[in-house]
Amino acid sequence: MNTEKTIKPFSIVIFGASGNLTSLKLIPALFELYHRGMLGKEFAIFGLARRPMTDQQFHEKLFDDVKNADKCGFAKPETWDEFCQHIHYVSGDGNDPSTFETLKSRLAALPFNNGKLGNCLFYCSVKPELFPDIAANISSSGLGSSSNPDEFRRLIIEKPFGFDLASARKLNEELSRHFQENQIYRIDHYLGKETVQNILALRFANRIFESVWNKDHLDHIQISVCEKVDVGERAGYYDQSGALRDMVQNHIMQLVSLVAMEEPKSLNANDIRNEKVKVIKAIRPVCENNCCCSVVTGQYTGGKIDDKDIVGYLDAPGVPKDSTTETFTAFRMYVDTPTMKDVPIYIRTGKALGKKTTEIGLFFKTVTNKLFDQACCPNGFNSLILRIQPNDGVSVNFFTRKTSQICLEPRELNFYYPDACPSPIPSAYEKLLHDALLGDQTLFIRSDETEAAWEFISPLIDSIKEKQKIPQPYEPGSFGPAKSDELMACGGRQWRN
Ligand code: BG6
Repeated sequence: MNTEKTIKPFSIVIFGASGNLTSLKLIPALFELYHRGMLGKEFAIFGLARRPMTDQQFHEKLFDDVKNADKCGFAKPETWDEFCQHIHYVSGDGNDPSTFETLKSRLAALPFNNGKLGNCLFYCSVKPELFPDIAANISSSGLGSSSNPDEFRRLIIEKPFGFDLASARKLNEELSRHFQENQIYRIDHYLGKETVQNILALRFANRIFESVWNKDHLDHIQISVCEKVDVGERAGYYDQSGALRDMVQNHIMQLVSLVAMEEPKSLNANDIRNEKVKVIKAIRPVCENNCCCSVVTGQYTGGKIDDKDIVGYLDAPGVPKDSTTETFTAFRMYVDTPTMKDVPIYIRTGKALGKKTTEIGLFFKTVTNKLFDQACCPNGFNSLILRIQPNDGVSVNFFTRKTSQICLEPRELNFYYPDACPSPIPSAYEKLLHDALLGDQTLFIRSDETEAAWEFISPLIDSIKEKQKIPQPYEPGSFGPAKSDELMACGGRQWRN
């Protein structure tokens, strides 16, 4: 829920403005918001990076990337020129206090600030090691807070929020020395996706779903985040991270928390986040005792996806030949809450797989009567599938009688989001930047959420390391190693591909 109704005049300062995130995500999102009249007219965007550049050169660099963004804003190129009048460049270093003095004079010179520093949103699009220094410099320069209670100063940071539990705690502690928790916006772009936001509405506004969304009716849940892309040019980062840190600790934990949480008291940011934290804290440590419990890790080999050649992970530039970093993982977990206790939740994510798809599947227990012959159905479960991306939507799968037979056959009711929403669905970054400007923290991660997620993931990663588990090779274009299917098969289940 938004805490402020309208956007006040503001400045956004982007640290690391010469990077891809700025030109591929942040500027297109801000441009789209501007085009739709959602930023007002009194605002400034300051891109800050080390290399010297004029405003004009910065605009040209951004334009080269932004023009390829598939957004309606570009239907009117003159809007871009108008928008650029709000974009400025500052050459400087987030580590250097003098940069912040320059920034202050640029902020004070803005016509709508009347000599003051005004409302500021600081966006750290830089390596996480730099977050604490930037936060400290913002604070010591006097930019971190304002004596005017109507003025805001907020800090947005991008994942990773730490590398393990200890470093996540340290980061939270360092940031808290300079900013209050209600000023810190930890971005997880999955929370900005419309279909992810819809999970709560689907659950708590629909009795037909909520009444069966529990351990009495659910056989199991599947959460699959499959990507067709390989690690590409990100090997340097990815090899230090792997699927568990890159996808599970953040995006997938967020999906788990929304799917398993109890009804929040209200849609207030803290009520929702309180319930999410309870779920993450209630995750049972993943056991490794038998094949049904084991954690599968995989690494893609060389091969092809469609007609495209894929270089095997170990041959990707920047990856050590003996790397054991997982590009795929699958495991079964449980959330010990009153609603979900003992419902198996199967997680699967990986790179260079056969299909890009993010889906949450709820599979319901089979009916106990034997009136109809379920044996002729390929899969005996009713299911509710939330398609997060692509083909955003929801489908309900059930059985009907096969004409003139006692046999049943599966049928599907399908809701496709874009059919119901004629205007384009806002991108995750549009939604999140707009919320941060309004002071709404609902879709941002609180410090205790990130620590709780590490409390679960860190021991899992450590146990894989201790056991010196070698990831299973898998072919690009497949759905991961065979062991992932075995994990399902031993529970009498199968992945929905
Ligand atoms: C990022 C990960 O957070 O999410 C990437 O670092 C991954 O490795 C990306 O590719 C996936 O995002 P999306 O929105 O394409 O599912």
